[in-house]
Amino acid sequence: MGLKDLCAGSMLIGAAVTPGLLQNERYAEIVKNEFSSITCENVMKPESIMDFDATVKSGQTDRVMFDFSEADKVLSFARDNGIKVRAHTLIWHNQTPRWFFTEDWSKAEDAPFVSREKLLKRMENFIKDEMNYFNGAYPGLIYCWDVLNEFIEPDNNHPHGCRVRKNNWFSILGEDEPRYAFTFARRYAAPGQKLFYNDYNEYEQPKRDFILSTLRPLLKDGLVDGMGLQSHLLPDYPGMDEYRRAISDYAAEGLSLQITELDIKSLSESEADDELLARRYREVFEAAIGGGVESLTLWGVTDAQSWLSKPDRPAYPLLFDRAGKEKKAYYAVREILSK
Ligand code: G3I
Repeated sequence: MGLKDLCAGSMLIGAAVTPGLLQNERYAEIVKNEFSSITCENVMKPESIMDFDATVKSGQTDRVMFDFSEADKVLSFARDNGIKVRAHTLIWHNQTPRWFFTEDWSKAEDAPFVSREKLLKRMENFIKDEMNYFNGAYPGLIYCWDVLNEFIEPDNNHPHGCRVRKNNWFSILGEDEPRYAFTFARRYAAPGQKLFYNDYNEYEQPKRDFILSTLRPLLKDGLVDGMGLQSHLLPDYPGMDEYRRAISDYAAEGLSLQITELDIKSLSESEADDELLARRYREVFEAAIGGGVESLTLWGVTDAQSWLSKPDRPAYPLLFDRAGKEKKAYYAVREILSK
């Protein structure tokens, strides 16, 4: 029995994967045995699927062309193994090429941006074409979309907490960016697919309040369904009271909740740190189950592939070690899910 079987019926449990990881037999086995949901760690992001050459060649000025071949490797694996997909991510300031925003798709550093009207056409076509492709090729596979990612950044000192720096979407659309993103996504999503706002440090104030005040009007108009709690945590931060409080604050608004990118940045695998990690995972899973979280995704499968592991500074943030062996944290999670 895998983790997915222990929480079947109450919560989906997932992992972020890459096409490379799925080629490794041991890692692919873990994914098949343990998880009921998959997120593409990078290959569904705009920069991975937008095809510059094909776009220029098409002669179109308001429609980007795609190359879905890497994403297809992950989605066909999911389909063939009965695993659902969290689609990550449509509108994001990061990992979206600058040429998407420029006149004539220019890659010149100082190329001028298109008008607001033109960007809205590009945005609508981008969301429509991507959703239509995946929903057509994999009917019923994707259960939710991260429509807007990391739009709130209190450090940018905008009165409503908007991310104004290094955000080409915002430079052209301003504060209307979220409403347009969710309006188009709702228009083209398949029936039953939930639309999410996804962010990190989601438990901190004032970020939490800025997120809620951005989502409230969208929720009222039926455009957003849920809050994606990324949950890139440290072993001792945030405190569990703060984390639980965030879960209940978002839930109180009527948002569906998913933990979308859980990892806990442990920098040693000593006995004591391994133990601490297990305790922390136990608490987070308890908070998730107690808080009605409907899907929980780990940001990676083993410590080896985690984005937190650098060549000169390994990290140990996940449930499986570098060899793909279950860690104490894995057994702690099993215990909570078995209750
Ligand atoms: O694709 C290029 C490749 O062509 C090149 O040779 C290589 C050399 O460094 O870089 C490759 O791009 C890397 C990309 O991942 C794909 O592997 C980027 O350098 C690297 O920065 C990028 O990192 C990803 C990061 O998002 C980008 O912001 C991480 O793998 C991914 O785990 C991380 O995920 C994000 C979520 O999407 C949103 N929330 C935060 C989370 C963690 O940062």
